[in-house]
Amino acid sequence: MERLVPNDGVLRLSSRSQRIPPGSFDLNTVWKLAVIILFSSMVYKIILSPSKQRHFPTWAALEYTLLTRVFGATDTPDLKTKLDNSWKDLFRPIEQMFLSDGGATAAIAKANVLSSASSFVTFATNTTHMQRWELSAGLRIVTPDSPNQSGVVEASFQSIVRDFGACITIPLLYGNDFLDRSPQLLADFWEFDNYIFPLMMIGIPSWAPFKTIKNGIAARTRVADAIEALYQRIDQYQRGQPINYNADMSDISTAALERSKVYVREDWTFRQRGQGDFAILFGQNANTHPMLFWFLTYVYSTPGLLQQLREETAPYVKVSQSSPPPDSSMDVTALSRNCPLMKSCIFETYRLATDAASIRYVARPITIKDGVYQHELKPGMYISVAHSVNQRDPSIYQNPDKFTPDRFLQVDPKTGKPVARRGALRPWGAGAAMCKGRTFAEKEIIALGTAIFSLWNITPASGTWKLPAMVPGTGVKKPVEDIRVRITRRILP
Ligand code: HEM
Repeated sequence: MERLVPNDGVLRLSSRSQRIPPGSFDLNTVWKLAVIILFSSMVYKIILSPSKQRHFPTWAALEYTLLTRVFGATDTPDLKTKLDNSWKDLFRPIEQMFLSDGGATAAIAKANVLSSASSFVTFATNTTHMQRWELSAGLRIVTPDSPNQSGVVEASFQSIVRDFGACITIPLLYGNDFLDRSPQLLADFWEFDNYIFPLMMIGIPSWAPFKTIKNGIAARTRVADAIEALYQRIDQYQRGQPINYNADMSDISTAALERSKVYVREDWTFRQRGQGDFAILFGQNANTHPMLFWFLTYVYSTPGLLQQLREETAPYVKVSQSSPPPDSSMDVTALSRNCPLMKSCIFETYRLATDAASIRYVARPITIKDGVYQHELKPGMYISVAHSVNQRDPSIYQNPDKFTPDRFLQVDPKTGKPVARRGALRPWGAGAAMCKGRTFAEKEIIALGTAIFSLWNITPASGTWKLPAMVPGTGVKKPVEDIRVRITRRILP
């Protein structure tokens, strides 16, 4: 990569196939739409610095473009005004639930993670007895589970892990009734994520006459329909009116209830509420569960690591053969604070699997002086700060393609104990628009990951771990193909 990058640290969008000599230039005259600013660039710091935010507003054009182009809202001056008036207030409850340490810990504590993980696979042969997350995993019973023999089931690992994550976390935001009422929702969500999100991001119109787009847009519509119907019920609930289907509203999160109040205040239609919250459902699920999949894949496939992590986490997760384990037996705060090897493995997973970028819209012209270079950024341009370009740079990370569990471990000079430090990694983006769900996401990976590796043994169905190649995803890379694995209950000490 660095051979393609000129010394000024700025890579033009289409320069992957060209070499551009460094020098002073006017970006706008050459590249009308976008540039990629590299991690190492001075420009990076300037664009993401708080003092320059008026040149690169974090919401404004970009978020409105996402709402209309990607999540399907109709572009009208009226919607633009509503969004301008409400986006800060719509974000606030999300930050309280997903960004604050207290909110994220409380949310995870509500999730019954251990008890759900104890039925990660049920060994059921009939789909009506399976857990929802098992349905997409192409399960095959290798050995039935019985009092005399331990069951073995074969499954597609990415599918089961990401749907497990989604089934645990979506109800935290929207309540259990939401998923129960929308059996198709997970399949539609991943179809949208896999096919439609990237195409809409690069500007393919939703009417383009291709089957993939037609099916993906239909999936997108069904997801937005489900969220719209939810916000109708929330509205009825908040007005004290009879609720459609007499649905249970007792476990809807404060975040969704508070967002509803903002939607009402600014007169968003129910359709617009469905599309506005689709963006949040997407943020909550699109990256965290693929990340959980890579983390668990590295844990199970790296020789000796599973045993080390089970030992490190054992004091904070009490599991026994009693099924299901009580939820109080997992201390997520202690797992986050006292397990440096696991933290280092999570950072190493970020390094290998994230593709984070901070996209900013240039609202006001700005000239950036960067040593001998001078960059003219003009209104209407989009800047994409690609945080991941250095993550596999051999001059920074030795053996950059290898998963090295203790890569981020250091000895704390004060205590003499090992600590994990993320260093220059930026999986959550940077600046004011940095990920609003990062605290929750990391705790989720810790809690769900620990629950699964504490309770289950997982081996490759082929007999040898062969990790699939990675392709760019939304913010986390995707495997080119799923991994078939065999899952058995761990015989607990
Ligand atoms: C491993 C999981 C996740 C990764 C890797 C990730 C990554 C990112 C990145 C790279 C950005 C762009 C930041 C920037 O522009 O500088 C972002 C934005 C955002 N993320 Fe996440 N995210 C994750 C999980 C979550 C979760 C669980 C939520 C919960 C709702 C969430 C909500 C958001 C929101 C609302 C934004 C937009 C922030 C803004 O525009 O101010 N993310 N995320």
